Amino acid sequence: MADPRIARISNAIRAIPDFPKKGIMFRDITTLLLDPAAFQDSIDLFVARYKDQGIQVVAGIEARGFIFGPPLALALGAKFVPLRKPRKLPGPTIGVDYSLEYGTDRIEMHVGAVQAGERVVIIDDLIATGGTMGAGIALIDQAGGKVVETACLIELTDLKGREKLGNTPLFVLVEYE
Ligand code: PRP
Ligand code: ADE
Repeated sequence: MADPRIARISNAIRAIPDFPKKGIMFRDITTLLLDPAAFQDSIDLFVARYKDQGIQVVAGIEARGFIFGPPLALALGAKFVPLRKPRKLPGPTIGVDYSLEYGTDRIEMHVGAVQAGERVVIIDDLIATGGTMGAGIALIDQAGGKVVETACLIELTDLKGREKLGNTPLFVLVEYE
């Protein structure tokens, strides 16, 4: 039987057509954040998934991975590591460039934030084309971490982003076409 928490989470995510440009159906998690029970459900589902997996690091992708990552990390007793857009982190960084639909982007992490062999979950709100999450995996790999799984609230299935993740599993709560 389907978990009723999934429907509650899905109902709390707002869809806004034609944002940020025509033809895009934007899945807005800010309305989920206004519903503490549904927000808590989303964190509880991630905690249940990872609590017995020896996770040492939760890495969150800027910006919306910074919302869901810290409560998960605290519940797991794990470190939280922000994976940031370029030139935001003050210390020495490593980074990965990746392709967008048009152009390129880059994410960076502080050197030493993840130690070789540490067990990592990477979290974000949403996977679309998979470019961002794929870069997150490459970044943790570069540091020598072991990406146990990637986690998102939302998967846009038609965009086949999970195909960009190689053998790394993806766990999602809600799917939209
Ligand atoms: C969104 C989303 C993911 C990414 C997914 O972030 O939060 O991080 O896009 O897209 P992809 O699977 O096609 O790579 P965005 O780039 O809008 O940045 P923001 O969270 O800083 O607004
Ligand atoms: N990031 C990429 N595509 C998105 C969408 N449709 N909704 C919200 N965030 C996104």
